[in-house]
Amino acid sequence: MAGLRIIGSGRHLPGRPYTNHDLSRVMDTTDEWIQKRTGIRARHYCPEGLGVSDLALEAAKLALEDAGRAPEDVDYVLFNTMTPDHVFPGSGVIFADKLGCRGVPSLDVRQQCAALVYGLQLADALLASGAARTLLLVGAEAHAGFMPWRDWDILEQDTGARPSEADWERATRHRSLAVIFGDGAGALLLERGDGGGGLLAVDLHSDGRHADKLAIPAGFRTRPFVSERTLAEDLFIPRMDGREVFRQAVTLLPRSVERACARAKVRLSDVDWFIAHQANDRINEAVRERLGLPKEKVPTNIAEYGNTSTATIPILVDEMRRDGRLRPGQLVCFLALGAGLHWGSALFRA
Ligand code: ACO
Repeated sequence: MAGLRIIGSGRHLPGRPYTNHDLSRVMDTTDEWIQKRTGIRARHYCPEGLGVSDLALEAAKLALEDAGRAPEDVDYVLFNTMTPDHVFPGSGVIFADKLGCRGVPSLDVRQQCAALVYGLQLADALLASGAARTLLLVGAEAHAGFMPWRDWDILEQDTGARPSEADWERATRHRSLAVIFGDGAGALLLERGDGGGGLLAVDLHSDGRHADKLAIPAGFRTRPFVSERTLAEDLFIPRMDGREVFRQAVTLLPRSVERACARAKVRLSDVDWFIAHQANDRINEAVRERLGLPKEKVPTNIAEYGNTSTATIPILVDEMRRDGRLRPGQLVCFLALGAGLHWGSALFRA
């Protein structure tokens, strides 16, 4: 039976990496704290004036080249982001225009860090129904816009300059959030193909009781939606209850993986790779331990890129396809949890 296939992939990390040490010039933090609590050593930031449509464009070009396809071959775009170019319209349509696949349906998926597992289920259904033949599934983030410092110059270069006391305090107030996120994009080109591969089982959930645990408070419940108060109270910077998100992730993700495996009638030990959203190395380590998985089956790249939200999984998939770790026939379990909360897992035969 024809199943979902990844026929091409690409990734784009903008500019140079910014180290934990660089961050310690704009807020009260240390390389030691960040590495110990998150596993992150560096991250990239989207340059001012560019957005997710631009980052995704670079990743998508590489995915098309990898598959030997042209933009005109793409007949559906699924665009995952939580940091769109504009409040509206969605970034998918802007991206599709830049890529040169104008006119095709483009759908923005808003499940934050869980968007990839939702996107895979959608892609599978669209391809199976014949609504799409060659589908581009993209995850891209430009979190730089909500970073809580003004002094990008001080971050850029160690000139000895220091932020004002007020700016330092403000950035420090948001430090547990700010050190986690980085920017980037990953793109997967998907088709249906013969050979027994494809999506074997998907286990998806959401629970809005936790919506305030990770959210940007500003929005259309206030008039106007951007006001002096929004700015004064930094309501456009995400609020995150890191401990609760952590607790939910290490509880809900192992259960989801077990359910997906049971549904597909495969044992955990049959799975070659557990490709997890890269939110925090400690989350993935705890999930790995709870499921009793060997370390080498749970790849990680958070040290270099931080948490790129919707982009982490496609970026990691691209790395693994290009360096030969991920091969046709292998069994992969994708797992992710993000704001909402949304979470789930997907079992996929490559
Ligand atoms: N540098 C130095 N100290 C810090 C920093 C920092 N960057 N951040 C927090 N601290 C301090 C705190 O002020 C606190 O100090 P205190 O004990 O004197 O009060 C102490 O460190 C502990 O703070 P916690 O916030 O409790 O630290 P925790 O161990 O929970 O780590 C973290 C915080 C890394 C955010 C962790 O909770 C986490 O990763 N949670 C999951 C978050 C997540 O996965 N988010 C993404 C979800 S995906 C999505 O949808 C986008």
